[in-house]
This record gives sequence, C-alpha cells and structure tokens, in this order.
Amino acid sequence: MKVLVIGGGAREHALCRSLSLDPDVSALYCAPGNAGIAEVAELRPVDALDGAAVAALATELGADLVVVGPEAPLVAGVGDAVRAAGIPVFGPSAEAAQLEGSKAFAKDVMAAAGVPTARSYVCTTPEEVDAALDAFGAPYVVKDDGLAAGKGVVVTEDIEAARAHALACDRVVIEEYLDGPEVSLFAITDGVTVVPLQPAQDFKRALDGDQGPNTGGMGAYSPLPWADPKLVDEVMELVLQPTVDELRRRGTPFSGLLYAGLAITGRGTRVIEFNARFGDPETQVVLARLLTPLASVLLNAANGTLADEPPLVWRDDAAVTVVIASHNYPDTPRTGDPIEGLAEVAAEDAPDAYVLHAGTRREGDAVVSAGGRVLSVTATGSDLAQAREKAYTAVARIRLDGSQHRTDIAAKAAGLG
Ligand code: AMP
Ligand code: GLY
Repeated sequence: MKVLVIGGGAREHALCRSLSLDPDVSALYCAPGNAGIAEVAELRPVDALDGAAVAALATELGADLVVVGPEAPLVAGVGDAVRAAGIPVFGPSAEAAQLEGSKAFAKDVMAAAGVPTARSYVCTTPEEVDAALDAFGAPYVVKDDGLAAGKGVVVTEDIEAARAHALACDRVVIEEYLDGPEVSLFAITDGVTVVPLQPAQDFKRALDGDQGPNTGGMGAYSPLPWADPKLVDEVMELVLQPTVDELRRRGTPFSGLLYAGLAITGRGTRVIEFNARFGDPETQVVLARLLTPLASVLLNAANGTLADEPPLVWRDDAAVTVVIASHNYPDTPRTGDPIEGLAEVAAEDAPDAYVLHAGTRREGDAVVSAGGRVLSVTATGSDLAQAREKAYTAVARIRLDGSQHRTDIAAKAAGLG
C-alpha cells in the first residue's frame, strides 16, 4: 500500500512512524513533513490547504490512501477533493469536519444526539453575551465559534476579560464551566462502525502545575490509571456512537478520527469539544501503545469496511510524551535555533525513547527549530513512572537554546505527587 500523509507536526511524525513500521506499507510519503519525518517517509512540498494540489500529488504518487493530519485542510475540503479524484481518504468531509470547525454546529449535533455537554448559548450581540455571562456566572467560558488553532477559548473569573473576548469574535458560544479532570478519547470510524482507541490525557497549559497560558499541548500520557475502567464503554455508548449516528442521519457521515475532549465532572462525563482529527500530543502516546498495524485500520475506515477489522491489540506498557517548545512559545516563538542531542537519544535511549519532530527543518547538516512546539520526546515503559523517567532522560540530552518544557508530565498519574 502506498500512503500519503498530509501535515508536518509531531502528530504526523507519530503517524508516519507507525505506518513505516507496518509491513503492508510499501511506500510512504508526507507533505510537507519536517526534518524528523524525512527519516521515515519521502517528503513532498504541498500547500496542505489546497485540495486540488493535494489530489494532484496523491494521483501522481499513485497513493492508495491519503491520511489528513490537521483540521484546517479537512475543514477546507481537502478530503473531499482527494475522494473526488477516486483515492480513499482517512479524514472527514468538510461538512462533517464542521464538528470541529464550528462550536455551534457541534452543540447542535450533541443536542440532537442527546450527548452530555456543557449547557451553552450561541451569541452574536453584546446583549446576548451579557445575558449568557450572567446566566452562568464565573468562571466564564467563552469560545470563538470558528477554528482558532487553540486560541479561541477563554476561561476566566474576570467578567471584563470574558466580555472583551466575546466582543472580539463574530459569533461566540458561552457555556457552563465544567469542573473535573480532562480526558481525550479518540475513535476511528467509517461513518457507521466506531472503534475506540485508548484514552490519554493532555497538558494544555505552558507551565508546571497547570499554570501559564493555554498551548497546543505540552505533553501527554496513556493509559489513565485513575480513570474508571468502564470509561471507554460509557463514552462509546453516550457520546461516540450517538454522534456518528446523528451525522449519518443528517446525510453528512463522519469518517476518520473522532476526538472527544471530555471532562469527568462530579455529575458525570461531559463533552468539552469534538475534534475531527487525531490530537497532538495525545497521538504520540496512543500510537506508541498500539500493536495492530495502522494502515489497514485507516484504509478500512476510509473505505467503509471498518467492521471487517479485527479488534485492536494494545501493549500493556505505558507511554509518556514531553513537548519541547521554543523560546517565547506560545506568544511569538523564536525559530531558527539549532537542535543538538538527537543522535545521542537515538544511540542511548532507543527503542524505548525516541524523538518525534514537530516544528523542525534541516539546514545543511543541522536540524533547526521551525515552530512553537519543536519536539515531542516519547517513551514507553512498564508503567507511567518508568515511561516518564525514560522520556525525561531523553529530554535532558536535547539542547535547544531558550527552549522550555514542563517537568510534571504524568507525574501525578504516576503517583509522584
Ligand atoms: P476547547 O478548544 O473547547 O477544547 O477548549 C480549550 C480548553 O479550555 C479545554 O481543554 C479546557 O481546558 C477549557 N475548557 C473549554 N470548555 C470548558 C468548559 N466548559 N469548562 C471548563 N473548561 C473548559
Ligand atoms: N491536544 C489537543 C488537540 O489536539 O487539540
């Protein structure tokens, strides 16, 4: 099978790594990719938001499957363009990707499907905003309706900050605050059959102890020793299957990866948000634990034959990933700094620990930073404590001027306080 992966972050590196280890995959391409992905896939330049360009590239390469990593191409209809060229795509249509592209659409689908989520109002005028903020009280949760690359959500005790964010957006969703730990649960679906993956937890704040600004994600771990063993079954029944069924009923079936961002509240599990693609950095730890070769699972989802897929097989091992971000991330990250220590990790820590690249590029013989999140250092171990130790041992070998990382990824879950 020839596979083309679209994107160039650590999530796509994790996908490419798994696909490169799959004996069914005879050729692996990634566009545009990054310096790390180049070690496991052949890179091609492409404008990932241009459906015609991606379809032409997939056709030229004779791809049997295209896997779209990020949300923006999906919302822009890249999946539709490739499917129209007759090539199977892992990733939803633009219409179904509205589940991530519009918070108001997601709320409407959840209401119709009876999926538990925060109560909310969709507001377009200052009067509606004030009424909604009053109705829920602090802490205020104000979400830009559209895609905002993680920057659209403000959670604050400060009513003026909440109001200011709401007024800066054309359309906002204002909702009830959900208290409780967050869980990311991914499911692969062909629009009918739904196959859940293992749950993971992401660390969204920049600094230790969940302080500092929201980021794209500073680390993740799986499994979740503290979670109810019935969580996956419960979310399948209450959230994932009803959502997939509702989208099919509407004539916009969702195929690809359905990501449920959940809050485990005192009153039960609630959906915080849906995403229409694999999460980053959770994918790095979920795929580290998956033993089943990935390509046929993704192809069966793309082809509507997921029911034929045997049950997924998981390692008992735990996985931890620690994100190394550039100086000044998430505000105005500095790029172009050389990264050293990659060869040492490969020599000393593999195969249990390895470095997935996010924002990197090659400059001559050097690998330099090229984005906010630069590397996702991933490790497996017999439990979270061991996986975390191996990940941080590898992190300590990496040198990137001014870089930052959290030191508490998975610490609490590993019983370390
Ligand atoms: P979202 O983009 O919807 O995932 O929101 C980003 C982050 O904001 C989430 O991961 C939560 O940490 C927080 N958040 C979003 N909605 C709520 C809510 N209703 N209650 C509490 N926190 C929330
Ligand atoms: N880890 C959060 C996300 O992928 O949206």
